[in-house]
Amino acid sequence: MSFRTQPAAPARPNRCQLFGPASRPELFAKMAVSAADTINIDLEDSVGPNDKDSARANAIAAINEIDWQNKYLSVRINGLDSPFWYRDVVDLIEQTNGRLDQIMIPKAGNASDIYAVDALVSSIEMAKGAAKPISFEAIIETAAGLCHVEEIAAASPRMQALSLGAADFAASMGMQTTGIGGTQADYYMLENGEADAGRARHLSDPWHLATTAIVAACRTHGLLPVDGPFGDFSDAEGFRAQARRCATLGMVGKWAIHPRQIALANEVFTPSPAKITEAREIIAAMEQAKSAGQGATTYKGRLVDIASIKQAEVIVRQAEMIEG
Ligand code: COA
Ligand code: MG
Repeated sequence: MSFRTQPAAPARPNRCQLFGPASRPELFAKMAVSAADTINIDLEDSVGPNDKDSARANAIAAINEIDWQNKYLSVRINGLDSPFWYRDVVDLIEQTNGRLDQIMIPKAGNASDIYAVDALVSSIEMAKGAAKPISFEAIIETAAGLCHVEEIAAASPRMQALSLGAADFAASMGMQTTGIGGTQADYYMLENGEADAGRARHLSDPWHLATTAIVAACRTHGLLPVDGPFGDFSDAEGFRAQARRCATLGMVGKWAIHPRQIALANEVFTPSPAKITEAREIIAAMEQAKSAGQGATTYKGRLVDIASIKQAEVIVRQAEMIEG
């Protein structure tokens, strides 16, 4: 371990972030009673340019008037390259009652983007005498965002999470895809063999590098790493596969862009009873080994050692936090 220890991420469940356009206020009450841990009211790309002002007013009314229960409440503001974002920040904080938990910053390209929003938010909070500081989540969805992911994660004590936004990321990178996340048919390795022998294709994961970079930046700076949208909301198995890969790589949750995806995200990002039992058994086996003076032992025919305790604790801690 480096001298500098790894900070813990915020201890709140973030298995599913449910999005809804602020231009569709009829969705808000349904979002509030959903099973999502986090709600993202969107002012950005699901709202047309002519609806920006009315959408912002809808979001403010919804924050003040709807009972959001114990949900983590977040609003995605417009990008810093737009004429809308400063007004989003000013009105959201000045005109709401303290219920708003988070501002989501899209298309973050570097630490200065976060600094700019932080300066504005801090000034408004000071003027208001706000009791609770607003937290930030940034979306990594551009080439610059990926290049500067670590400085973005470290840019402000307000930072609590980073999400990967697959569609904008693909566009910014010049990737030849149109689907929002998930499997890309042209990203494959071909089995070795004769040229025309009908060789098997093995699909690879085009999101792997960005996912892992986000997880590493988040773990280094104590943030929650989250996977973004999966556009085909009719494809439950596709969503599960995408979510399981991200959970395997260390992410803690995923967006839902349709209510059908909420239960799927909660299922994948809640450790199963079998996994929790196994994790507890590994910890118990290692406790026994340690009291016998050993640093390693056997569990179900395989090696477990000090590192296995830490791996098992990730699962147990996640389960306990969700239960709590
Ligand atoms: N949150 C809560 N409820 C939602 C919802 C959402 N995001 N999207 C749809 N619903 C509700 C509908 O109102 C409908 O409710 P009802 O059964 O009471 O009538 C039900 O779920 C089924 O909806 P459906 O008809 O299948 O969807 P739709 O055609 O109304 O909308 C989308 C589909 C994709 C346009 C819509 O889900 C949406 O806007 N999603 C979020 C998009 C977004 O925020 N993007 C930005 C991040 S990528
Ligand atoms: Mg985007």
